[in-house]
Amino acid sequence: MTDARQIIYHGCVSSTQSVAKKLLSPGISVGTVVVADKQEQGRGRLGRTWLSPVGGLYASIILQADPLISLRAGIAVAKGLRKLGIEAKLRWPNDVMVEGKKIGGILVEVSGDFAIVGVGVNLVPVPLESATCVEEETRVHITRDRLLDWILQWMEPSLPEEVAREYKALSATIGHVVSVGDKSGKLVGKAIGIDDAGRLLVDSAGVVHVISSGDCSNLTQEDS
Ligand code: BTN
Repeated sequence: MTDARQIIYHGCVSSTQSVAKKLLSPGISVGTVVVADKQEQGRGRLGRTWLSPVGGLYASIILQADPLISLRAGIAVAKGLRKLGIEAKLRWPNDVMVEGKKIGGILVEVSGDFAIVGVGVNLVPVPLESATCVEEETRVHITRDRLLDWILQWMEPSLPEEVAREYKALSATIGHVVSVGDKSGKLVGKAIGIDDAGRLLVDSAGVVHVISSGDCSNLTQEDS
């Protein structure tokens, strides 16, 4: 990712994404990470809020923009959680899930040549029915900074084929009948894979659609 990893720690911030964005300049070292103990206006994908109480992992990493970076980040978080014995899977594009509940998420914001990769992991409970956390899923104790260290190591650049292979192995989406879309419409079909840019390929009535963003939910059970 970089020759020297600079990690900047904060107590409470509005969003680590905003703090990281302010640091962007031609001289910024790629790989700089902004971490906070708590966020007051944590941001999720598609304009959502990311609940960010003290105890969770909230980090924004400044990287060179790359179409696969968001999948790479999701893979890194899932692998970190698996190392703790948690059966984490990825719901396209990069929701980190445990048995249908969300435990982590990735938000990528591009600014010029840079991508600010926001990583959120629920280490402690958040008041949402649809969410779970590390504390609830395992008795293994991990510090925020140790988990972050693993994640950063696994986000190092790797070949697209390697990303695709790892993503498929961790996917809770590929192979399932899904409903995918946004406010402008929904598509139902079988998720058959991802392309080189991380877009989801959905076969609907024999036509393969290439989906670049949106929300995805399974209409078939994971083990069906
Ligand atoms: C999502 O699943 O919707 C993405 C959630 C991303 C949350 C992280 S926490 C660190 C960084 N700062 C933010 O405000 N958001 C991201």
